[in-house]
This record gives sequence, C-alpha cells and structure tokens, in this order.
Amino acid sequence: MRGVVYHGPGDVRVEPDLPMPTVRGPRDAVVRVTKTAICGTDLHPYRGEIPGFESGTVLGHEFTGTLVEAGSGVSLHVGQRVVASDIVACGRCERCARGEHYQCELVTLFGYSTVVGAALPGGQAEYVRVPYADVVLAAVPDDLTDEEALFAGDILSTGYAAIQATAMLPGQVVAVVGGGPVGLCAAMCAIAAGAARVVVTDLDQERRERANRLGFTASSPAGLSAALARAGAPDGAPAVVEAVGTDAALAAAVRAARPCATIAVVGAHHAPDLPFPAGTAFARELTVRFVVGDPIRYRDQVLALVRADRLDPAALVSHRMPLSAAAEAYHLFDRREAFKVVLDASG
Ligand SMILES: NC(=O)c1ccc[n+]([C@@H]2O[C@H](COP(=O)([O-])OP(=O)(O)OC[C@H]3O[C@@H](n4cnc5c(N)ncnc54)[C@H](O)[C@@H]3O)[C@@H](O)[C@H]2O)c1
Ligand SMILES: [Zn+2]
Ligand SMILES: [Zn+2]
Repeated sequence: MRGVVYHGPGDVRVEPDLPMPTVRGPRDAVVRVTKTAICGTDLHPYRGEIPGFESGTVLGHEFTGTLVEAGSGVSLHVGQRVVASDIVACGRCERCARGEHYQCELVTLFGYSTVVGAALPGGQAEYVRVPYADVVLAAVPDDLTDEEALFAGDILSTGYAAIQATAMLPGQVVAVVGGGPVGLCAAMCAIAAGAARVVVTDLDQERRERANRLGFTASSPAGLSAALARAGAPDGAPAVVEAVGTDAALAAAVRAARPCATIAVVGAHHAPDLPFPAGTAFARELTVRFVVGDPIRYRDQVLALVRADRLDPAALVSHRMPLSAAAEAYHLFDRREAFKVVLDASG
C-alpha cells in the first residue's frame, strides 16, 4: 500500500510498497483511508524542530475512511465510515475514566514517531491500523461527507477544547493568537459558543485576510490591543487562545488578556523552558492553561455543530490533492502557500 513517509527535515516521500496493516488484537481495526489532512503539528518534524523523529515514520493523524477489518471487541461494523481521533487512548485506565485521554498511560499519536508514547504508523496512507478502535474511532454521521467529518478528529475538536478551557461566556470578546487552521477553528468555536467578536492576530497578511473573510476581526500582533479596544474590549479579552506554540505568541496572548482572563494554550510547545511574562501574569491574575485537543471527548459536540452548519470545515480547506502529491502538499503547507491541505487517499 502507499503512504507518506518521513525521511528527515523537508523530505517526505510517497512510498508504494508499505506493509499492509492487519488486526492484531480484539480492540484493533483497519481503516481504508479516504481523506487525510496535513496538520501544523506535522510541520514540527518537517522543519527539523523535533530531533530524533524517526526516519521511516508513516505520517499523519487526521483521517477518515471506511472500516475494512475489526477485532471482536469493536462494535462498529465493516463498511462503516469512520473518523479517527488523532490521540490514541485506551479508554479504560483511571486517567481515561476521568476524561483525560491525552494523559492515558498508553497514549500515543498516529504518525508521530515516539514523541507521544509508542510509535504508531499514521493515516497519510491507504490503510491504517487503529488500536483501541472502540474508543478511537467514531462513526461519521450519514448526512456528513468524509471531508466534513475529518477535522472533528483533530483541529476542530482542538479549537473546541480551547474555547471550553477559556470558560468563555456568550457575549464576550475572544482573542486568538495565530490565524492558522487551529486558530481559526478556535475562532469558529468561539462564535458557535456565542462570542460577540473574535479578534485574530497573525504575522502573515494573507492569513489576516482569510480571518477577515470568515467574519473575524484580524490584526497584526502590534495592532492587537487597539483592535481589541475597537471590538469592545479596551482592557483586553477575558478569553484568549494561543494557537502558535512560540514564546512570542505566548507573550502576545498575555498582552491580549484582561485582568483575571483565562489563556488556553493549544500551540504545541516543545522547548524545555520558556521565557514567560510572569510579572504581568501575576499582576493581572491570569489563568494559563495548556490544552491538548481531545477528539474522543469533544467530537460528538463538534460533529453536531457541523451538522447544524454552525461550524464550517470547508472554509478551512485551501487545497485538495491526491495522496500521491503529498511531497508537494507539504512543501506548499510549509511555505504557507496552502492553508489546509486535504489529501485524497482513495484514488
Ligand atoms: N494542542 C493540540 O491538541 C494541537 C492540535 C493541533 C495542532 N496543534 C498545534 O497548534 C499550532 C498551530 O497549528 P496550525 O495547524 O494552525 O499551524 P500553522 O503553522 O498553519 O499556524 C500557525 C500560525 O501562527 C502564525 N504566527 C506565528 N508566530 C506568530 C506570532 N508571534 N503572533 C501571531 N501569529 C503568529 C503563523 O503566521 C501561522 O499563520 C501548532 O503548534 C500545532 O502543533 C496543537
Ligand atoms: Zn494535528
Ligand atoms: Zn487510558
């Protein structure tokens, strides 16, 4: 079978002869992938930011497809269309029972080498083995296409988790630092939760234009305070999402926060230490929460919002390409020439 294989920074290749995955235990399933997306998280190894990321890794953690084989412990039937959670969790340990799936003793992430738990081949491939499939997979509702359900497996559920973590109230102004796919998912979820306005800040002019087109208020990082004031939050936003994962973005999130605000950090931070404006955070009594999206917990709510047309995943997709064009797709995504790429693995 074909799949997208990491060979080092800037080097991904579609390989034609990868081993076919098989069911190894009662809770395993094999999915024939239809749609799979490239995530900003995939850019971290692509940009060489994760030393030790293993060459030979089949990439990808956002995918939908059709169940083709299932162990006896999986109640979904063969032929069912499914969306996978990017996070793989057992669903049975104490932490899973508390709903803390990313803290599962057995947690892993598809296609991400050994960065999060044990290595597991990813979903940018024609077929993928899904462990704990009774927990990790969800049925795609009949009235949604595979593409419409795809982002419930990661970025939409992550945006939703971020907004939940800010404890935002209807009528409030929300600030989002980073207007990439994750930031815009958080912005969409804020509007769905009743935010009065969402101010999205990004360094990139085209990304700001996209945010404006989707009905958000875009600003440069330098203009963020003024934009918040114009949006009705002169003291800063009560709810802030950081969707970048850098020191500068976290500092911008602190600057955007009004006293007693909550900042939800969904941008992936990999540095062992980070400079943090602790004085400002203390003076303003800020709450800073690091949040990993949890599709297992939130995908039902997210899919319901997509079905009700209150979240619009199609607005995020800039490129639809065949799996065979994955190397070009990574290149475009890395250079921000593509906003969000959906690869078709079925052709
Ligand atoms: N926590 C989770 O569960 C989860 C899930 C998915 C992705 N992520 C992470 O979220 C982050 C964003 O993902 P994405 O797919 O949107 O990636 P992306 O790289 O497409 O988007 C990041 C955006 O941030 C902007 N940016 C960079 N520095 C900035 C700054 N100082 N101020 C304002 N904007 C700035 C960039 O121009 C870009 O538009 C990544 O770190 C990714 O790993 C986390
Ligand atoms: Zn992701
Ligand atoms: Zn568990």
